[in-house]
Amino acid sequence: TDPSRIRNFCIIAHIDHGKSTLADRMLQLTGVVDQRRMRDQYLDRMDIERERGITIKSQAVRMPWRDEFVLNMIDTPGHVDFSYEVSRSLEACEGALLLVDAAQGVEAQTLANLYMAMEHDLAIIPVLNKIDLPAAQPEKYAEELAHLIGGDPADCLRVSGKTGDGVTELLDRIVEQVPAPVGDPDAPARAMIFDSVYDVYRGVVTFVRMVDGRIEPRERIRMMSTAATHELLEMGVISPEPTPSGGLGVGEVGYLMTGVKDVRQSRVGDTVTISSRPASEPLGGYQDPQPMVYSGLYPLDGSDYPVLRDALDRLKLNDAALAFEPETSTALGFGFRCGFLGLLHLEIVRERLEREFNLDLISTAPNVVYRVTMEDGTELAVTNPSEFPAGKIATVYEPMVKATVLTPNDYVGAVMELCQGRRGQLQGMDYLSPERVELRYSLPLAEIIYDFFDQLKSRTKGYASLDYEATDELPSDLVKVDILLQGETVDAFSAIVHKDKAYRYGLSIAEKLRSLIPRQQFEVPIQAAIGNRVIARETIRAIRKDVLAKCYGGDVTRKRKLLERQKEGKKRMKMVGRVEVPQEAFIAALSTD
Ligand code: GTP
Repeated sequence: TDPSRIRNFCIIAHIDHGKSTLADRMLQLTGVVDQRRMRDQYLDRMDIERERGITIKSQAVRMPWRDEFVLNMIDTPGHVDFSYEVSRSLEACEGALLLVDAAQGVEAQTLANLYMAMEHDLAIIPVLNKIDLPAAQPEKYAEELAHLIGGDPADCLRVSGKTGDGVTELLDRIVEQVPAPVGDPDAPARAMIFDSVYDVYRGVVTFVRMVDGRIEPRERIRMMSTAATHELLEMGVISPEPTPSGGLGVGEVGYLMTGVKDVRQSRVGDTVTISSRPASEPLGGYQDPQPMVYSGLYPLDGSDYPVLRDALDRLKLNDAALAFEPETSTALGFGFRCGFLGLLHLEIVRERLEREFNLDLISTAPNVVYRVTMEDGTELAVTNPSEFPAGKIATVYEPMVKATVLTPNDYVGAVMELCQGRRGQLQGMDYLSPERVELRYSLPLAEIIYDFFDQLKSRTKGYASLDYEATDELPSDLVKVDILLQGETVDAFSAIVHKDKAYRYGLSIAEKLRSLIPRQQFEVPIQAAIGNRVIARETIRAIRKDVLAKCYGGDVTRKRKLLERQKEGKKRMKMVGRVEVPQEAFIAALSTD
């Protein structure tokens, strides 16, 4: 296709502002999906395919428009955890539709996505969606949008993804305002990978945007970051299903299949070229996504350990950002320390492990990565609090984020109080309209990964929205708090916390364990300590209870049953020093909060 006829765009929006529904209408209007095959949220295929064990999700769809144009809509993952991928999707486009729910107005992810699109120099088309809603206030929010991106409120398109109102005008506007792709058709081929997924039947499917040159079927392709070469088994475009094509040229968007089994061979952000005439420079900078949050994953039933290991291997095929290595814990047995891009990523991985591999898992409290420098000049990254060094520490650095909170005016005080309680520094504040405020904070990542979002929602009656991105790291007054049972450290509860919060953390865990661990034959002290210094203490008092005493007379069967039941229970006990602790107690202590 002649590049001047191609338009590559994405839709960016806050959650639930109607991206998928609008995409459905576009698929219908352009005739890519006919009435008969239409179903809601056509492109959200993950769930259905997941049930069937196939994971090929179309991240891009090619739509003909007015017989002369080709529109490539490139889907962007919506969540901040995946902003690395979002940024790559944006790089594959020349324009972005900024979609805003006309009954809600601008939200935190609207802003975050907008800024990202601006950083990539995309043409931005503001669109108010859901104008069919009785509560829609398009005039008001057109002002808000125009204030944000400049321009005239009248230029904001008004559409309804539900009724299809305004969608034809929107497609024409895309042709008009999104620049055609530019690239050198005669240069060696360069294509950017913006997504890659593993399919059980076909191996890795790689989604690319051609920048320069051309890739033909049957060519050997070469990954520029690793220099690995692969034979092309199939290539084509998605419209709306994968359709083989006779090659991809400048500006085109499509897929490549090589039969390779591991997505790490075909990483998002890498540049593909052809081995017969390779390009010399890759596109853009290339970097691996780094895990931001770590957690220990343990099978509830220890015999599931091999299943968990295989399951993680399988998931990794599809998820280059997932990291894991074996670890053991006195409290929880054999498991894995896993690295994730964020909490949502953790939740998704955990849910997939439980659903798709039938595992029952316990995960330890998530923690961020700390960089510790020692007085002797050595340095280490701590991904597990129990590995925090004991020697002479010079400085501990913790990762920071730039958080953006959008809130109605009335809740500014409540939001500020929350952020200050989490060691936040106010960086700036803007009024988007007389009643809507944007607050920008610098916050430690560790302070927002637990319950920050829930707290924000409950303090603002659900009206505030949040977005954040990793920035840098800062030195901080952090200590490791250990929890000891009768003098023995219980590794699963060690945590790295700010000095000012150490006592509260220690006390709350000690109290929890006291109420969860049954009394023993002897007194069991529970201590929270920083190094050798005990900062909190609780005690489980001793009992000397003869369980058989209450069995009257000579009812042997009853006694035996009782003893057997106790034996059963013992299997689920963990010994910490001399103390018997039911595994349930650890699990309960870890899962509450
Ligand atoms: P995520 O994929 O979760 O980010 O959401 P999304 O932005 O793709 O939104 P989606 O299309 O799933 O729509 C969210 C909700 O809004 C659904 O309940 C839709 O039925 C509804 N919705 C979407 N567009 C319209 C519209 O134009 N009018 C009305 N009344 N409802 C809409």
